[in-house]
Amino acid sequence: MTNKLKYFIGNWKMFGDFSSYKIIYKINQYVPKHKKSKVVICVPNILIDFFKKRLKKRNLSIGAQNCSHREGYGPFTGAVSAKMLKKMGAEYIILGHSENRQEGETPQLIKKKILSALNQKLNVIFCVGEKLKDKKKGKTFSVIRKQITKSIDKKFNKNKIILAYEPVWSIGTNKIPRVNDLEKVIKFIKSDFKRSFKTKKIPKVLYGGSVNKKNVKSLSIVKEIDGFLIGGASQSAKKFIDIIENYYK
Ligand code: PGA
Repeated sequence: MTNKLKYFIGNWKMFGDFSSYKIIYKINQYVPKHKKSKVVICVPNILIDFFKKRLKKRNLSIGAQNCSHREGYGPFTGAVSAKMLKKMGAEYIILGHSENRQEGETPQLIKKKILSALNQKLNVIFCVGEKLKDKKKGKTFSVIRKQITKSIDKKFNKNKIILAYEPVWSIGTNKIPRVNDLEKVIKFIKSDFKRSFKTKKIPKVLYGGSVNKKNVKSLSIVKEIDGFLIGGASQSAKKFIDIIENYYK
């Protein structure tokens, strides 16, 4: 349906143990069927090294889901830095997820996290999106603009940043935006990013929030979407594979 590379990124959240290897194994076996798709599974830190070592012929990339804003090593009990994740084998990292913003992550803190991840040459999946009350007040664009400009510095390497539009009200709720609205937001993010950072490069923008095998077909109509960030459904090989399968149908 399209020749452009599409991302299918799984976000396992607080899920998984050694027995979950079977899930990633099945997804890994499936990936070569769709050469135009890039599959990344973002897993808990404790599984990154284990999965990387066990998957002999790896067709997908492994990512992390957050990191400390502190760089390198230091006296920060329980903290894990981007450097540590990189050494464990992470290639991607999700930052700015609304579940972490909810826990108190500020745009300034996210900015430090993005910088530390970029310093380790990790690919950053930077999440933005409005809450329901913002949407109702017609503030979707202004909220997203603020999230982007407060956490991305002009000097950051934009080639290593993928944006993920995740309306907070759509995460884990089975609600997705109307196709028309979604198209407008994705177009806005792309054009506003270019304008804000005075760059010609159009950023990759994913959609995330309740993506499943049923709604992916309607989401695929929005050709500006460069892929999907998939939470709940990525915790099952079948559900994740069905999404890719239906996308290309
Ligand atoms: P969901 O989560 O697919 O379960 O809605 C998406 C996300 O939080 O990235």
